[in-house]
Amino acid sequence: MDSYTVESETEKCPDCGKPIVYEYTVHMDQEYTASLECPCVTERRQKDRDEQIRRGREVVREMIRQEAGLSKRAVSQRFRNYRPDEGQKQAFEAVRQFAKGYIEQRNDGTGLLLIGGVGSGKTHLAAALANAIVDYVPISDYDAEIPGFSRLPRSGVYFTGAVPLLERIRASYSNEEDEREILEQCKEAELLILDDLGAEKPSEWTRERLFEIIDARYNECLPTVITTNADIRELRQKLGDRVCDRIRSMCKTYTITSKSHRKTADNTQPEVTADREDFDDPPVLPVEEALPAGQKSIYERMRE
Ligand SMILES: Nc1ncnc2c1ncn2[C@@H]1O[C@H](COP(=O)(O)OP(=O)(O)O)[C@@H](O)[C@H]1O
Ligand SMILES: [Mg+2]
Ligand SMILES: [Zn+2]
Repeated sequence: MDSYTVESETEKCPDCGKPIVYEYTVHMDQEYTASLECPCVTERRQKDRDEQIRRGREVVREMIRQEAGLSKRAVSQRFRNYRPDEGQKQAFEAVRQFAKGYIEQRNDGTGLLLIGGVGSGKTHLAAALANAIVDYVPISDYDAEIPGFSRLPRSGVYFTGAVPLLERIRASYSNEEDEREILEQCKEAELLILDDLGAEKPSEWTRERLFEIIDARYNECLPTVITTNADIRELRQKLGDRVCDRIRSMCKTYTITSKSHRKTADNTQPEVTADREDFDDPPVLPVEEALPAGQKSIYERMRE
């Protein structure tokens, strides 16, 4: 089988004006002719596909954020728009280091307990942690091409306020949700972020639910990040010794000493500035697991 190509002298590509190329193939004394696709068309098709995958990846990441329990406000709370003051510095660095270690799969089950007054920046830090982890979830081209078609890549993170969580459990007695399933979600999350623990009205009922969650995580050595307004003594009073002691042994404690950062009459979200990174020293994904052969690194992909 012989083949050769010839540029047409008269026909031009309507898009780029280059001559159309014909390929002639001789096979068993028969000659076959076909026009080749202009390289500009091939290139455009590749670009369109890349763009579709890029957009699909954003859609999938949004689905992962929802699955992780992140609200619209929480999604905007990042390390890169957190300007730690003196009283926040230590907790900020600890949470950022925690995020890095978690993403690099170096977490040994130790969590964090962030203590601080109202408006001292605890929820922002907890949300920034969840966001950073979600940002590093690798999404393959295959999973991004048609969002929702294949499995949803998971972050393993579940972020919830303690009050809404207990409210959701209570409501499950009279709606179609199942209390067991809600508890399992909290017990089994690879990382549970429990915001504002102790803000709930203490009762035997709430203590039992919280004990079930904390005890399961303690036994399975699963990390839990907790924020609270209460100091240890108050926490002990509210949650009881059993829960408090487990939290104390599972979590490293950081106290934020700052005054409230909450502005009055300002319901806008913080801007996610592009001029800063979430990490001074970005996490490196464990390569073999994260990157099927031929795929770009998560860092390259995040920058697309
Ligand atoms: N260091 C900071 N840089 C930027 N915004 C901050 C900082 N600390 C707190 N904030 C903002 O102040 C508000 C209150 O913080 P938040 O995390 O909700 O406090 P807490 O959960 O401790 O009550 C939020 O809008 C948060 O984004
Ligand atoms: Mg809060
Ligand atoms: Zn062309």
